[in-house]
Amino acid sequence: VTTAREVALRALLRVHEGAYANLVLPPLLATSGLDERDRGFATELVYGATRMRRACDFLVDRFVLREPDATVRAALRLGAYQLAYLRTPAHAAVSETVAVVPRRARGMVNAVLRRVAADLGDAGSAGVVWPDEATRLSYPDWIVNRLVAEHGRVDATAALEAMNQAAVVTERPDGYVQDLASQWVTAHVGARPDELVADLCAGPGGKATGMAEAGAHVIASDVARPRADLVAANACRLGLASVATLVADGRRPPLRPGSLDRVLVDAPCSGLGVLRRRPDARWRIREDDVDRLVALQVELLGAARALLRPDGSLVYSVCTLTSAETTAVADAIGAAHPDLQPLERPGPPWRPWGSGAILLPQDVGTDGMVVFSWTRRSRTM
Ligand SMILES: C[S@@+](CC[C@H](N)C(=O)[O-])C[C@H]1O[C@@H](n2cnc3c(N)ncnc32)[C@H](O)[C@@H]1O
Repeated sequence: VTTAREVALRALLRVHEGAYANLVLPPLLATSGLDERDRGFATELVYGATRMRRACDFLVDRFVLREPDATVRAALRLGAYQLAYLRTPAHAAVSETVAVVPRRARGMVNAVLRRVAADLGDAGSAGVVWPDEATRLSYPDWIVNRLVAEHGRVDATAALEAMNQAAVVTERPDGYVQDLASQWVTAHVGARPDELVADLCAGPGGKATGMAEAGAHVIASDVARPRADLVAANACRLGLASVATLVADGRRPPLRPGSLDRVLVDAPCSGLGVLRRRPDARWRIREDDVDRLVALQVELLGAARALLRPDGSLVYSVCTLTSAETTAVADAIGAAHPDLQPLERPGPPWRPWGSGAILLPQDVGTDGMVVFSWTRRSRTM
């Protein structure tokens, strides 16, 4: 019989080789024969051991002499995660993890995990003396340093801790699964019946279908065909005939300038607000990706502005927390286009952030999100 730990180890090995956890796990679970409870446990093990990889490695590496091979490394992370964070009784965490590793590696995994267990004692991760905050929180240094510098230690630490928890699932009244922060961005766009609105980065269509539910005619465009196809499929499933999908680079939208009531740029970003949802993303995203994304975001907003009719509104949202991708982008757009005037930002639970608003993941348990909005004045002063 397959066990949750066996499935988790197989998935972790693939994830540590660079695969996406959310892509690797579902097919493994589907063919595992595990019941629902064990599937949940396997998911928790894979997501948790991936999020807490750096912290688990610290706990393990004190007792490891040479870098172990990939299977042993994955098994040690799996075991350490159970011992430190799930507080699984030591005998079960060790013996049941050892049971799923190849015979040749059992002695090594057993010896190391026993020492980790003894060292943790009854306190789990709470009793560990960590070398630094980034190891304790299990993020790359640059993410911790950047968020601490830009949000202050208290808010940054709380955000990073919140994103070490499992994400919650929220469903809209129409059944579409979408985080509340994203739903609130759609509400902030405020599309009204019969308005013509465009979403230039629309895939998979959460906000586009939300605006269509509000009665607007929505042009949902995405540069990636599979993403645009997802929008079409979602609109179809929800029975929304008022969503037209398009494959186009949002920097050069094939739409008539000055023709739209509202344009949403829900831009590609570094995703530092949604790390709880993508356990491997923190190890994948690189600091220099941010600069490339900023340039793209500014270009997308410039193109979006040109589509607005006079007094039309432009909304910019990103699920990240860096100042570069939020306040700095908004400042650049404001400076380049004096005809754009900031609109009133959403109220609590959003907090003011530059001329826009931010939701930190710890505030009300949503994704981290930032939103800015402007109206295009008919005449410049
Ligand atoms: C944050 S996601 C959008 C989420 C979507 N608005 C929703 O609510 O479901 C960003 C999207 O931007 C798309 N994208 C990336 N570069 C783009 C570009 N140059 N033009 C248009 N879309 C782009 C990506 O394919 C991705 O689907």
